[in-house]
Amino acid sequence: MRLAQRLAIATAIVACLAVVAVVARAWWDSRLPGTYSVMQFGKTDYGGAKPTRGVAGSRLVSVSKLTGTDARNTPDDRFTLTAQHARVRLASGKTVDALTFNGRVPGPELRVRTGDVVEVVLRNKDVEEGVTIHWHGVDVPNADDGVAGVTQNAVPVGGRHVYRFRVKQTGTFWYHTHQDSDADVRRGLYGAFVIEPRAAASPDSVDLTSIAHTLGGHAVLNTEDETGSREVPPGTHVRLRLVNSNDTTERFALSGTPFEVLAIDGIDLHGPTPLERKLVPVPAGSRYDLGFTMPRTPVRLDLFESHAALVLSPDGETAPAPDDEDWPDFDPLGYGSPAPTPFSAASHFDRTFVLKIQRKLGFQNGSPGFHWAIDGGIYPHVPMFMVARGDLAKITIVNDTSAVHPMHLHGHHMLVLSRNGVPDGGSPWWVDTLGVNPGDRYVVAFRADNPGLWMDHCHNLGHATAGLTMHVMYVGVWTPYDIGGAAHNTPE
Ligand code: C2O
Ligand code: CU
Repeated sequence: MRLAQRLAIATAIVACLAVVAVVARAWWDSRLPGTYSVMQFGKTDYGGAKPTRGVAGSRLVSVSKLTGTDARNTPDDRFTLTAQHARVRLASGKTVDALTFNGRVPGPELRVRTGDVVEVVLRNKDVEEGVTIHWHGVDVPNADDGVAGVTQNAVPVGGRHVYRFRVKQTGTFWYHTHQDSDADVRRGLYGAFVIEPRAAASPDSVDLTSIAHTLGGHAVLNTEDETGSREVPPGTHVRLRLVNSNDTTERFALSGTPFEVLAIDGIDLHGPTPLERKLVPVPAGSRYDLGFTMPRTPVRLDLFESHAALVLSPDGETAPAPDDEDWPDFDPLGYGSPAPTPFSAASHFDRTFVLKIQRKLGFQNGSPGFHWAIDGGIYPHVPMFMVARGDLAKITIVNDTSAVHPMHLHGHHMLVLSRNGVPDGGSPWWVDTLGVNPGDRYVVAFRADNPGLWMDHCHNLGHATAGLTMHVMYVGVWTPYDIGGAAHNTPE
């Protein structure tokens, strides 16, 4: 062999070895230890601010100390939720082996009034993998956020955990386990949490919650897998609280009356206008409240592309399902009329972040594939958005994939500033869970007014399990809890 040939072969071998080394290194780096703290991973992203911004001394506060000052007050409402296996019966008579709170799916609807101190005792009777309760959309103190391995340990069989917090919001929320949440929310560990205003409701009003879920493969509204009915006298003010506890956007069709979208994610819209022949898409994890005055004829709520429906009528008379195939989707952007907000697109932002969702070829925890990536990194190499108390933060959320991502930030509400460059000219639109459709780019902003270590993840919980999850962390906060570990914490 000539020298040149030998050199070429040697170069090729070296190049191959280099590639193998790079790939092996990427594989090695992607592996997660059996036990780790979420603080260990993630690229700290200070959003353009100095890393020292907001740092006061070297004392760190544990998330377990972030209980809020009201936690010592005597509760106004006390509930006990016991997680347990049970066989539940749907309206059609079909039964499903489920995981339940108090033997029911959905779990009991908890109704409280704004300003109340709420105490919930969680017990775990027989859910081997453990359980927690996250108060989705309720901006509770961090210690009560209910995330296994981040703000508490999963409650084992026979164990208990007490949540106690003052509710300052009003509106429609829900609760669910945040331990093995992908599997166990689907199996039934969820329920509605409604915060009513202080003033008593007028006597001629009806307030109903409808949770869309797929339980044991059956699409249901609460437990209704067929057409449920309810008598409502004409002239009644009806508020329908729609909750989506599934993984993808659910569309609701309300027919037989014009209606208004009164609230999104527990925050009333300003100046809502009547709608008709519109499907209302509710992103996974989100809540939309619809309102109308009961006419003399039946009104019907259909969970689109399912058999689950609810008919309200003055006399028990039913109504046919609408031909809702070609109804356009309701769009919150631009709906309603403007009202003052505590900040706007023109405000000065202390932190500016980008949350770009993509798919990327690489390794996740040692397995090669096309994985979800946030800002170019595959979990756990995702960003950690750092904020300081009082900061005004802006996030540009970009969905560069072909799937919908309902992005949920714990502990805060975000004001939607624009979508695809179009500013929101309607009612202020606040969200805790934003359905980001393929190709969409939203600019949202929030005030960092609730110190802690907060999850920010996709509420298609299968995506969260597959790595579409990250955190917003306040400087000076740390968590003593671990993912994995003796408590077997697996929040997703
Ligand atoms: Cu409703 Cu982190 O979830
Ligand atoms: Cu997703």
